[in-house]
Amino acid sequence: DPEKLNVPRPELFDFHGVPMVHYFTDNWENVQNFEARPDDILIATYPKAGTTWVSYILDLLYFGQTSPERQTSIPIYERVPFLDLFVPDVFSGKDLADNLPTTPRLIKTHFPVQFVPKSFWEQNCRIIYVARNGKDNMVSFFHFDTMNSIEPEAGSWSSYFQRFLKGNMLYGSWYDHVNGWWKKKQTYPKLHYMFYEDLSEDTGREIDKLCSFLGLSISPELKKKVLSGVQFDNMKKNQMANYSTLSVMDMKISPFMRKGKVGDWKNHFTVAQNEAFDEDYKEKMKDPTLHFRNEI
Ligand code: A3P
Repeated sequence: DPEKLNVPRPELFDFHGVPMVHYFTDNWENVQNFEARPDDILIATYPKAGTTWVSYILDLLYFGQTSPERQTSIPIYERVPFLDLFVPDVFSGKDLADNLPTTPRLIKTHFPVQFVPKSFWEQNCRIIYVARNGKDNMVSFFHFDTMNSIEPEAGSWSSYFQRFLKGNMLYGSWYDHVNGWWKKKQTYPKLHYMFYEDLSEDTGREIDKLCSFLGLSISPELKKKVLSGVQFDNMKKNQMANYSTLSVMDMKISPFMRKGKVGDWKNHFTVAQNEAFDEDYKEKMKDPTLHFRNEI
């Protein structure tokens, strides 16, 4: 019962070359042995890239019309289990995923590509990767770490900024994560790589692309319903989508549905930080085919 989660702040440690906290590694063997089914859909992201937004879009696309009671009774974190997360006696994303009654099963992970359980590849599952520009991703992650007690302590903004550039973050370096998944896309056709900024710019267009990737054709009514349901303000007030039922998160410090904007980094980065970021970015992001937008 995740409502009862009340846990001490974890420390980062090196796990197969990636900084992790124990809540996402304690069930490692079982998670690695997860038995994916061919119609499972994996939603993969670096934390705070738009996981919940895309999860909710998919949930509405598949179940928005058939099970209306789902919309008012099951929180998003139970509809789309977080495979990596394990808190003994309280929460096992793997068990939740195993027991999902729906088809397809929608499953969420923040793993870098090399950590994904092998059955997803063997079963040739569809995978949706959502990426967000590094500046906004950093800002969103910072606020999240201040309010969520299963995350490592956030510390000051300036130290957080340095830590992000160094890649000493939970789930590792943002640069490695977005690049690793981007490379995978070149050899694994059933990977749909999408961007938070595109979703923000034109949600309808991105839903159409998702449907074409998923082989779904939806009615204009359903599309309207999805578009309205996944608007930021509607998700923010939707108790089944806004995480308000989870006690590990202190929404008085920072709400889960915080701003939902592209370019909020401008309210956080100093001029010097922005220059340092851009300089460092040029060094690390050499692949000209992977392009992020810091504003739209
Ligand atoms: P901000 O902190 O910038 O507001 P995740 O779901 O991966 O944890 O990502 C959370 C981020 O996505 C938060 O960003 C949150 O506000 C934003 N988000 C969630 N739902 C959204 C929506 N419907 N529209 C725009 N942004 C959304």
